[in-house]
Amino acid sequence: MNVIVVKDYEEMSKKGSEIIADVIKKNPSCTLGLATGSSPIGTYQNLVKMNKNGEISFKDVKSYNLDEYCGIDRTHPQSYYYFMHDNLFNHVDIKEENTHVPYAANGSNLDEEAKKYTDALNKVTIDLQLLGIGGNGHIGFNEPGTPFDQETFVVKLTDKTRQDNKRFFNSLDEVPTHAMTMGIKNIMKAKSILMLISGVNKHDAVTKLLSGEVTTDFPASVLHNHPNCTVIIDEAAFRG
Ligand code: GLP
Repeated sequence: MNVIVVKDYEEMSKKGSEIIADVIKKNPSCTLGLATGSSPIGTYQNLVKMNKNGEISFKDVKSYNLDEYCGIDRTHPQSYYYFMHDNLFNHVDIKEENTHVPYAANGSNLDEEAKKYTDALNKVTIDLQLLGIGGNGHIGFNEPGTPFDQETFVVKLTDKTRQDNKRFFNSLDEVPTHAMTMGIKNIMKAKSILMLISGVNKHDAVTKLLSGEVTTDFPASVLHNHPNCTVIIDEAAFRG
């Protein structure tokens, strides 16, 4: 695991976007695994700028998102489908048909959709998978205890995760109880992984991650088993 400590969120986003832009420049028809949450927003903003100034093109880029809440429609501002369009897809030249977000809206057959997502993932190779980290070490929505050989599935969110994500909703009641997520096995198949960690509230997670112990109790620890994983941590998250 290659750990890079940077000054703040802005530097993390700069470095993160440079790494992703390099992957796109080397292979303009690459496949990216994308993440939501506060951590990648600045990175996406930089990628939008680079696209607008002609430095990179998403014309032939394909993307697969990590996860999606169950039971809210894609038009819901807190759905990850909406987030991705709002923060990236609507502002770059990516083709809609090349973007993929798990489908878990009201009325969908969740088990069937999860299987379809895994089948689709098994037909491609993700060149770079972007990740954030949950306060409890989750990656995507793989909560503590998830087996490392898990593929895309529907997960019951922990109270901690629902509390953490409450800030995006009007009340805790509105936070979905379940989500569909790429499994750890799907994530680990990516050729390279880039994790972004920012803010003092991630310090405990950073301490656990950097302890080096690999355990299903702390899902992000599996990244120690990946041959090409870079983690960018800002000083607040690193020092606490
Ligand atoms: C969410 C997402 C994760 C994300 C994590 C951290 O629950 N499912 O993919 O990495 O929370 O989010 P943030 O970057 O907002 O701290």
